[in-house]
Amino acid sequence: MEGADRRLSTLARHLQTSAAGHENATITCSPTSSSSSSGDHSIFANILPAPEDPILDPRGAVFVTVAYNKDPSPVKLNLGVGAYRTEEGKPLVLNVVRRAEQLLVNDRSRVKEYLPIVGFADFNKLSAKLILGADSSPAIKGNLVTTVQCLSGTGSLRVGAEFLAKHYYQRTIYIPNPTWGNHTKIFNLAGLAVKTYRYYDPLTRGLNIQGLLEDLGSAPSGAILLLHACAHNPTGVDPTLEQWEQIRRLIRSKSLLPFFDSAYQGFASGSLDGDAQSVRMFVGDGGECFIAQSYAKNMGLYGERVGALSIVCRTADVASRVESQLKLVIRPMYSSPPIHGASIVSAILKDRNLYNEWTLELKAMADRIITMRKQLFDALCARGTPGDWSHIIKQIGMFTFTGLSTKQVMFMTKEYHIYLTSDGRISMAGLSSRTVPHLADAIHAAVTTIV
Ligand SMILES: Cc1ncc(COP(=O)(O)O)c(C=O)c1O
Repeated sequence: MEGADRRLSTLARHLQTSAAGHENATITCSPTSSSSSSGDHSIFANILPAPEDPILDPRGAVFVTVAYNKDPSPVKLNLGVGAYRTEEGKPLVLNVVRRAEQLLVNDRSRVKEYLPIVGFADFNKLSAKLILGADSSPAIKGNLVTTVQCLSGTGSLRVGAEFLAKHYYQRTIYIPNPTWGNHTKIFNLAGLAVKTYRYYDPLTRGLNIQGLLEDLGSAPSGAILLLHACAHNPTGVDPTLEQWEQIRRLIRSKSLLPFFDSAYQGFASGSLDGDAQSVRMFVGDGGECFIAQSYAKNMGLYGERVGALSIVCRTADVASRVESQLKLVIRPMYSSPPIHGASIVSAILKDRNLYNEWTLELKAMADRIITMRKQLFDALCARGTPGDWSHIIKQIGMFTFTGLSTKQVMFMTKEYHIYLTSDGRISMAGLSSRTVPHLADAIHAAVTTIV
């Protein structure tokens, strides 16, 4: 015990000395401190709250949900959260997922052994087919793709980023401005330099294609380029197919490396093939690319953390060497991925009936969101709300980037108990026919009160 005490006070002295040199550090207590509150004896007493702390990150969805939970108002509405809700405002477990789980439970031959490092082989094959196209993809036919099961979209991006940081000569990744908040952190932590390219034009509330092409045109040859496959988060603005073709030609002519983030396949338009068109264009030209897939939104498997990273190579031999190196990236991170979620996905993707049922349920989710867009647009028109709100029906996917200012958002929260991120992003999936009028009233009041 005495030895342990000595080690503790040495550690405390060390922590105090290093924290003292840190401008912003506030040492509240240490194990050797004589004050008497209960945190005093923690060796972590000098740890500062992380920036993700809701109070320090008032723009984010976490802050929004914390504030929403504290609000006692019966009309409160949370439009910050990026998860699907039913008309009744409830989370949804797809019927097809329940059926697949039942099949798994009934199958007594199933065991809970470790999966291989790269995950469930069936799942990997089926995932590659889902994003690249069942039989038509030359990349699949030629064994040019290596796919590894990862921890949802985030984990797939991270494994891809770690691989690139270790094996690719270019260490800079360009991400769109704006983009999903986690992108910068994922790539930075893997050791890549993150730069942005122009994407959204606040004036048109659409794509800044000119700025995008200029920025990609001046990126160094070989740079990595993060692209949202569809339903860009947070703006809901996607390039048209013609614009994708322009982007593709530029990327290939400059030998940039596309890294697709596909978090919303099927969830955007209701069509799995439609939402994969951008990716398939790039794979169709025979060039290399990375694809991170998530089953969080399109199968509602948020908490199961199911996803896949595919790397499309130019030859089967390279693909197999890439896979061998991916194993070395994955092994020290989490050893091997979890079995349950990937088994659900595989069961659905390989059975024609379950697959068809899934596509119907997926389309129903996408359609509900599209209907919410139409209802909100109509409600604003009916109120004569100043401004052009057509972007609400033009944008695609889970989110609408409303164009509301931070002050207008704060007004809506204070006066109408409506919670959204301060950049004006609304999760359309959180709306229902019942709550649209309340939101339209709030937007109308915000834009007519705060100009
Ligand atoms: C653009 C984008 N990429 C990736 C993800 C990752 O999600 P998950 O890790 O839950 O699959 C999200 C989730 O919101 C997203 O919006």
